[in-house]
Amino acid sequence: METSAQTALRTVENLATAVLLFDKDLHLISINSAGETLLSVSHKRVSGMQPNQIWPNSSFFYEAIQRSLYSGTTCIERGIDLNLNNGHQIKVDCMITPVVVDHAAEEILLELVDAHGFVRVMQEVSQETVQAAAKESVQGMAHEIKNPLGGIRGAAQLLERELDDKDLLEYTGIIINECDRLRKFIDRMLTTSTHPVKLDLNIHEVLEYVVSVVHAENAHKVNIKRDYDPSIPNIKADREQIIQVILNLLRNAVQEIDKDGHITLVTRIQRQVTIQHKLNRHIIVIDIIDDGPGIPPEIESGAFYPLVTGRAEGTGLGLSIAQQLIQSHGGLINYERKDNNTYFSILLPTEQCDE
Ligand SMILES: Nc1ncnc2c1ncn2[C@@H]1O[C@H](COP(=O)(O)OP(=O)(O)OP(=O)(O)O)[C@@H](O)[C@H]1O
Ligand SMILES: [Mg+2]
Repeated sequence: METSAQTALRTVENLATAVLLFDKDLHLISINSAGETLLSVSHKRVSGMQPNQIWPNSSFFYEAIQRSLYSGTTCIERGIDLNLNNGHQIKVDCMITPVVVDHAAEEILLELVDAHGFVRVMQEVSQETVQAAAKESVQGMAHEIKNPLGGIRGAAQLLERELDDKDLLEYTGIIINECDRLRKFIDRMLTTSTHPVKLDLNIHEVLEYVVSVVHAENAHKVNIKRDYDPSIPNIKADREQIIQVILNLLRNAVQEIDKDGHITLVTRIQRQVTIQHKLNRHIIVIDIIDDGPGIPPEIESGAFYPLVTGRAEGTGLGLSIAQQLIQSHGGLINYERKDNNTYFSILLPTEQCDE
């Protein structure tokens, strides 16, 4: 028979909120699984630590905990940036509650919720709407343009054969070339309608392949660093489509950085992430980080729409295609500006882990 203490423990252990308990000298007594996941630590490692050891250089937070302990009052803080020992930074909403025994605070309880997660869900909902509308309008438009295009090209070819004045061939040549260019453009817009063929895929092998393509197409040396998590398992995904996504994002980054700028590719695993209303036990995250200026503010909100571009020579299809392809894999691409760096993060469920 389970005691009420055991039941309480099991409840806390299964909460999606991170819960940490400190004694009155602010040494960590316990942390639940959600806390270990959020802070990327094991309870063994952090047990007994003080807040400033768990979150170095997060003095604002440390002071808020002390304030709550001394005043004996609950305190709520939103959107706090916490620096983790692994160098990452997370944004959390937090409730700090002193556990009062005989009028004195004996322990302090922290509840932390990932604030990025909330922002991400909001972004996701708007992304889904954008993508659905974009797909519909692009497909309708593509169909209407493609039909007459064949006729124009055919007529120009017939005209070419009939022309006696060879100087005029230049003009029919232009018509044919421009028809071909438009056709390729439309085909690119339509690529996302292909259903993904999901096979076993090693994401690091794909990343390295894309890096080699990017090196080959740039005359100058592109500085690309890697920070891969070698423990990532193979995923089930469409190789060609994932290559296209990473290539689009990496090309964008290359186009935005200075000659001596940096790009970093980071891979990692995240647990318990909801995407497209589905809770995934594991997802992989691929960050493509560059130290360029970021998306120009005037197009930031619409950058994932087709035909939105900040570049004179851009077609504005790269991000919209990438987003659609990743969504058809049950994932999502996020954009974020952090510490003067541009982050495009691909979130992909690792299907075979969850099945
Ligand atoms: N890493 C980045 N840094 C800064 N701005 C970016 C970055 N990636 C995309 N952008 C901005 O978002 C716009 C849209 O990107 P998108 O890839 O959709 O189209 P594009 O690069 O202009 O054209 P293309 O269809 O050839 O990819 C870009 O024109 C650029 O202004
Ligand atoms: Mg692009």
